Parts: sequence; C-alpha cells; structure tokens
Amino acid sequence: MSSAVAAASSTAPALEVRDLEVTYGGIRAVKGLSLEVGRGEIVTLIGANGAGKTTTLKSIVGLVPQRKGTIRIFGKDARADPTHDLVARGVALVPEGRAIFGAMTVRENLELGSFRRRDEGREARFARVIELFPRLGERLAQDGGTLSGGEQQMLAIARALMSGPELLLLDEPSLGLAPKLVRQIFDSIIEIAATGITILLVEQNTRLALETANRAYVLVTGEVVLSGLASELRDDPRIRAAYLGDDVRV
Ligand SMILES: Nc1ncnc2c1ncn2[C@@H]1O[C@H](COP(=O)(O)OP(=O)(O)OP(=O)(O)O)[C@@H](O)[C@H]1O
Ligand SMILES: [Mg+2]
Repeated sequence: MSSAVAAASSTAPALEVRDLEVTYGGIRAVKGLSLEVGRGEIVTLIGANGAGKTTTLKSIVGLVPQRKGTIRIFGKDARADPTHDLVARGVALVPEGRAIFGAMTVRENLELGSFRRRDEGREARFARVIELFPRLGERLAQDGGTLSGGEQQMLAIARALMSGPELLLLDEPSLGLAPKLVRQIFDSIIEIAATGITILLVEQNTRLALETANRAYVLVTGEVVLSGLASELRDDPRIRAAYLGDDVRV
C-alpha cells in the first residue's frame, strides 16, 4: 500500500460518492448520485448512452467540476486534491477510447504511466503488467498506434496500473472490441481485482458487467435508479427487460 493511502483512514471505503451533481452549461448530467465502492470490490456502473457514466468517473478524478456533493477516496475528500495528486492517492482512470500515445512505443507508453511514481516498485509493476498482458511484452518496441484495438485497451489498462493504483476506474473497456477480446480483457480485470486492487467499472455490456462485478448501480439520465448485488440484478426482470435484451414483462 502506498504511504499516502496508508495515511488515510484504514477502514474507510475505497470510494464514497454522496449527492454528486455535475452540470454542463445548463444540462444536469449527474443529478444527486451516491455510490460506494468497498476495498477489494468490483463495482459496476451501468446505463445507456448519455446516462452520465463517464461524467461520474471524470468528476471522481477531478476532470469535470462537481457542482454539489462529496467524493471521498480512501476516506479523504477528493476535492482537496488536484487531479495530479490522485496518483499519489492511489487512483487511476482508464479513459473511454483508451487515449494511448500512438506515436510512442508500448514501452514508452508504460513508462509514462509511472511518470509520477518513480519509486523502487516501478520495475516490479512493469513485470506484473507484462505478466498480465504478455502480448504487450512481445510488442514493447512497437508504436502504440499500430496495435490492434484489443491490444490498445490492454496498453491503456497496463499504463494505468504502472502508476500503482489501489482504486482503478475503467470506462467502457469493451468498447469496439470483438467478443473474444472482450472476454480476455474482462478476465484480466478479474485478475487485477484478485491482486487486491479495487475496481469501479463503467460498462454498456450489461451482461458481462453483471457477471464480473460484486455489486452494481444502474444509472438513468444522471440518477441511480437501482443498485444491489450483481448476482441479484442479473435476475431482476427490470434489468433483463431493459438491458439484457430479454422479453420479460414487468
Ligand atoms: N463536455 C460536455 N459538455 C456538455 N455536455 C456534456 C459534456 N460531456 C457530456 N455531456 C452530456 O452529459 C450527459 C452525460 O454524458 P456522459 O458522457 O457522462 O454519458 P455516458 O453515460 O458516459 O454515455 P456513453 O455510454 O455514451 O459513454 C450527456 O447528456 C452528454 O451529452
Ligand atoms: Mg461514457
């Protein structure tokens, strides 16, 4: 555990969001959202296009200003920290659309991930991400932009892991990938969680998200309308009808 995180409350959840409101111009994208992610959990935030999933993740890392509410990361108010200090606090975001550096090699992309954590743990983290994604190990000298979509997603996750996070925020890791690669990425997410890293997973692939997560929150136009154990939501007729494509009448 990083010293900064250890210094925060040791019993607080990894993430607590209370009554979050985010407004773009006049549009309320997030309307009083509350959620909690316990240490070591995989929690998924699911919802349709435009529901406010990305906005929620961005406000957790300070990329969009929150209008109201509180966000606590490992017990500490996130607003007290500008975005760049979140690395030291143990949080990393893998953004929607991956945002890797196409003209830099895989190795350089990974090194950038640990730019703010030039500690002795760096080589061990490098070894661990290569073990997790052996395909990246075979392509270290290749430019990021020449990787396949699935490999780019692996690189984006690996780069985030290079900062040594204890809370990993993933925005639509399955987007645009073939089913076989999606499976692989989700297996990696489960492996990452098994190493003790807490995960908040935003997904439109509801079926897979509910198979992977411990708990889930369902977001509709900026509000949580349903939450609970992923295993229970999988069988919920409202979820099955609205998100799993099953013809269930409620
Ligand atoms: N920079 C912005 N300026 C204005 N409105 C925005 C901005 N970013 C997002 N929005 C609006 O906020 C709402 C929530 O968007 P957000 O990107 O959080 O949704 P999402 O759940 O991530 O959707 P998707 O599944 O398509 O990624 C949408 O109505 C969107 O149009
Ligand atoms: Mg989004």
